[in-house]
Amino acid sequence: MKTDELRQKYLEFFAGKGHTVCPSDVLVPKWDETVLFTPAGMNQFKDHFLGNVELEFTRATTCQKCLRTGDIDNVGRTAYHHTFFEMLGNFSFGDYFKREAIHWAWEFLTDKNWLAIDKDRLTVTIYLDDEEAAEIWSKDIGLSLDRITREDEDENFWPAEAPSKGPDGVCGPCSEIYYTPDDGKKVEIWNLVFTQFNRSGDPPDNLQPLPSKNIDTGMGLERCAAVLQGVDTNYHIDLLRPLVETAGEICSTSYDPTSDVGRRLRRIADHVRASAFSIHENTGPGPKGENSVIRTLVRRAFLDGYQLGMRDSFLYRLVPKVVELMGPTYPEIAETVKRVQDTLKAEEDGFLETVERGIDRVTPIIEKLTVAGQSVLPGKEVFELRTTHGIPYELIEKMAFDNNVTIDLDGYQAEMDQHGKASTIGEVGVMGGGPMDEIKNELKSTEFLGYDTLESDCVIKGILADNTRQTTLESSDNKTVVVVTDRSPFYAESGGQVGDSGVLSGDPFEFVVHDTQKDGNVIKHIGQLKKGTLSQGDSAKAVVDKARRQGIRRAHSATHILHYALQQHISKDANQQGSKVEEDFLRFDYSNPNPVAEDVLLQIENTVNDRVQSDDKIEAAIVSLDEARQAGAMMLFGEKYPDPCRMVSMGEFSKELCGGTHLDSTADVGLMEIKSETGLAAGTRRIEVFTGEKAQQQRQKIVDQAHRCAELLGCCISDLPACTQELFEHVKKLKKQLDAGKPGIPKQTAKESAQESELPFVEIRSKLREAALVSNSELFDTALRVENAKKEIGKLEEQLSKLESSGGVSADDLIASATDQDGIKVIAAEIPGGNPNLMRSTIDQIRKKTSPVAVLLAAATGESKVLLVAGISNELVDQGYSAGNWIKAIAPIVGGGGGGKPDMAQAGGKNPEKISEALESAKQGLVK
Ligand code: SER
Repeated sequence: MKTDELRQKYLEFFAGKGHTVCPSDVLVPKWDETVLFTPAGMNQFKDHFLGNVELEFTRATTCQKCLRTGDIDNVGRTAYHHTFFEMLGNFSFGDYFKREAIHWAWEFLTDKNWLAIDKDRLTVTIYLDDEEAAEIWSKDIGLSLDRITREDEDENFWPAEAPSKGPDGVCGPCSEIYYTPDDGKKVEIWNLVFTQFNRSGDPPDNLQPLPSKNIDTGMGLERCAAVLQGVDTNYHIDLLRPLVETAGEICSTSYDPTSDVGRRLRRIADHVRASAFSIHENTGPGPKGENSVIRTLVRRAFLDGYQLGMRDSFLYRLVPKVVELMGPTYPEIAETVKRVQDTLKAEEDGFLETVERGIDRVTPIIEKLTVAGQSVLPGKEVFELRTTHGIPYELIEKMAFDNNVTIDLDGYQAEMDQHGKASTIGEVGVMGGGPMDEIKNELKSTEFLGYDTLESDCVIKGILADNTRQTTLESSDNKTVVVVTDRSPFYAESGGQVGDSGVLSGDPFEFVVHDTQKDGNVIKHIGQLKKGTLSQGDSAKAVVDKARRQGIRRAHSATHILHYALQQHISKDANQQGSKVEEDFLRFDYSNPNPVAEDVLLQIENTVNDRVQSDDKIEAAIVSLDEARQAGAMMLFGEKYPDPCRMVSMGEFSKELCGGTHLDSTADVGLMEIKSETGLAAGTRRIEVFTGEKAQQQRQKIVDQAHRCAELLGCCISDLPACTQELFEHVKKLKKQLDAGKPGIPKQTAKESAQESELPFVEIRSKLREAALVSNSELFDTALRVENAKKEIGKLEEQLSKLESSGGVSADDLIASATDQDGIKVIAAEIPGGNPNLMRSTIDQIRKKTSPVAVLLAAATGESKVLLVAGISNELVDQGYSAGNWIKAIAPIVGGGGGGKPDMAQAGGKNPEKISEALESAKQGLVK
């Protein structure tokens, strides 16, 4: 049976048993802080299990995209381990329980209308004392007792070991179903979890029976397909073998399942599949959290290819095959092939550079270790390699592994902890049962009124202070308090839009809300009690800060307009990767490999302003996901949209699925001004924008900065770029002249300062932007850069005039001034106006002209600054003399210190008046 057919049959079977077929949740559930990736089918139903939401159905079935990294080292080596996999599941929320779950599992597996698996090949495990399950398997199903094994909480409890180790919350015994293929090595294909307890505290007596019991089952799609297709590993099923073989073709090798090459190709296939799905959801490789997991996967897979001889990026070439195999089930992945490929390629290319550098650095360390007969790479060494030299952990690990060396993980972790760096990621807890859950459980949801009104009456339903539930709060003593109400006009942070602020007030109290967040369907008002006593059950008036909300609305509507303009002027692939919408400020991250050119930025700004001028109506409507798709609404991959969903339209030009609060018309955005356009990560750019009053202030700052620059340069604004350029060129010219030791001060080209009439703002801004570019500074640092350049010119001119008054520097003159010390020419001289480059190059010239020679040059480089540079011939170095030691002995005379290599050394000091004393001493004392 094909894997696609198995998936279909499973959902069909359970739909026939009254289950609602729900779509897979996203792979990277940003809504759930407790996990990095979806680890199991039950994850999207956590609130259903806990009774925290109003149930629309009590039976559900899904095929869920999952990613687990707990067993990452086994991927490719064993027959059944993956990172990315699909999990089939059926769930009961207080509906059916053990008997039905077991009966239906057996029916689906063995009935000839369904999978028709040979019953004799199936065995089961149950939890030690789960007599109920034992009886159902033996009496109802008729399994002989020797095919029912009892295991402890390590194997047959979910979460594993929950009774003794926790976490607190709902849990239960489970029963696993195993299949025995011809080779006799049993494989677990289905886990039936009987969620019947609430764990609270440590044993004994810590498992309280739940009033309503649940079922959570999980069947590994790939494992079951392998059984049905009679293949000995998941990697040989119809959905995976072609990918493994394509990996072989791309790496110019053929797939031999039993060889090391086979293991590497399987790993490449698994990791590319996982990364492709994650990047599709806009979670690409990066340094932290889920991004770091994807980085690890890409790098490990890349190293496998490297080991197979690949010296160029190649993983990205597998993406079309992933799409061909998985696209029929997940058609959306076909829409992002280019973006996924570009992201993978960029990561591979960047990694390749560090790999080659890293191999050079790690090889001698491992060699030294093995020569010394050791086999553990110290954690400190690994830490140094990573943090100081930027060598990727994956590479160190792999090279160690290939040389039978292990890494001292504890030591490494200790170093990382000490330096406050996160090195590993863990699979995080599954279900909790804290005080917030209690409130959610009672209330289920807060009615949100904030699309239509900014004020409403409400009733206090829950108070949390210090994460403890309170019925009455006398004062918050500056503690952060969470207040939950039955209804609220406060928008809770989501979709990038910040939470509202405002006040909840009642007869005896005033609670100031600083922030609003969401937990499931409940709105949390976060703030402080400023006055009176607040009690659960109190009536209150909720009032949102109107001016702030209006600023947030402007910024949010501007975000949609900007998204539209980016797609117009950059590309259709300029998709939103993340956003933050605050009061009159927005940050928008989008996919685009290159910086945006000045003229394109201008077009984007013009388009945004045109759309603002056009005064298009902004409307929100609740539509089905299908309707939204047909209307061409922009949807973000990796975002979980309800069905029906909320579609925000602006005239005819923009439609996005969005829960945020918007203006009524585009004209209300007023002004918008781009603050910056910068790179965020490979393939991702960030634009920051001001709207409303803040945009106005930004414009004023730009005009002021431009005027300041013009004043400093003594030119008009139109000439800013040219004059800035000239200024920096003049600095370069002076430096060059000084380095060459040639006297004479080059003149700066005189500028005509034309009178100009007031320029339009756009012109002023563009001139300032150009000047900033020329001076290599941030927009608002331009004047400072110009000012510093002018100061530098002053200093350089001063040094040059000193040089001039001494007639310049001549190597021959210096040689002529040499004294003799045991047959060695010793030169010690002051170079007025000298700088390090000039002094070093003079020493080089002298060394080329004569030998053996020892030279020590001194210069006063400021009111209380001395520079000493010493150099000796190689011949003297060979005899054991050292410029470093020489200068070390002399520097204290001018109140300084320093040193360097035997052939060339440099030191500083702070007493210019002692220079001649130092030079006298140098003439006497060349040392070894
Ligand atoms: N939650 C259980 C598992 O992941 C069953 O779905 O194995």
